[in-house]
Amino acid sequence: MAPATCRRGAKQGICEDFADPGEEYHAMAVLKVRGFDVYKGLLDGAAQAQMVAAVREVVRVAPLFQPDTPYGKPMSVRLTAAGQYGWYSDRKGYRYVAAHPSGRPWPAIPPEVLAVWDRVTGLARRPECCLINYYGEGAKMGLHQDRDEADFQWPVVSISLGDDALFRIGNTTRGGKTESVWLQSGDVVVMGGAARLTYHGVDRVRAGSSRVLEKGGRINLTLRVVG
Ligand code: SIN
Ligand code: FE2
Repeated sequence: MAPATCRRGAKQGICEDFADPGEEYHAMAVLKVRGFDVYKGLLDGAAQAQMVAAVREVVRVAPLFQPDTPYGKPMSVRLTAAGQYGWYSDRKGYRYVAAHPSGRPWPAIPPEVLAVWDRVTGLARRPECCLINYYGEGAKMGLHQDRDEADFQWPVVSISLGDDALFRIGNTTRGGKTESVWLQSGDVVVMGGAARLTYHGVDRVRAGSSRVLEKGGRINLTLRVVG
């Protein structure tokens, strides 16, 4: 793995420049891996539990579904979304859609999720999609770019909850060497700037590594500016 460097250039891997607006400073480990900012343990246990409850409420209104890839094979993750748009896939391809497969609009993005976006990006612009991926047993995600959005100047922010995941990071073009990092519950990754189109994926999830989700597995939230 790349040496741990704080986003402001400190070498120790612990960055104290990172402030929760209006609150006390936290010592925050920020790993920079191939241009991705990996905030280890950004969410403490209470914040994770609160976010899980918020996600559960979204899933109650907009149940998880298992879409087909454009190649006809079902994805191994189950997914749903919150926000103005949800991400969708079928034989026709990948795209953002304004309604859940049930025909109902997607529920709003929970405020605690938007607060993470505000905290790590500092942007006035807010995301219009919070994609929710659920990794059950054996689920994984192949290396891909997030490129269904209109404007790549906006970052994608990923929040991990539940079991540990081996997250692989490649290059801005297909192929080449990759590096992997274990993402744990409460970790947040910002994929932006020169790394906005960097290939990434999840090789595997370590079942039973976390007790944050009652029934096990892993949830990943990705926040995206769509339009
Ligand atoms: C994604 O790339 O959409 C998901 C990444 C992850 O599950 O950590
Ligand atoms: Fe992605």
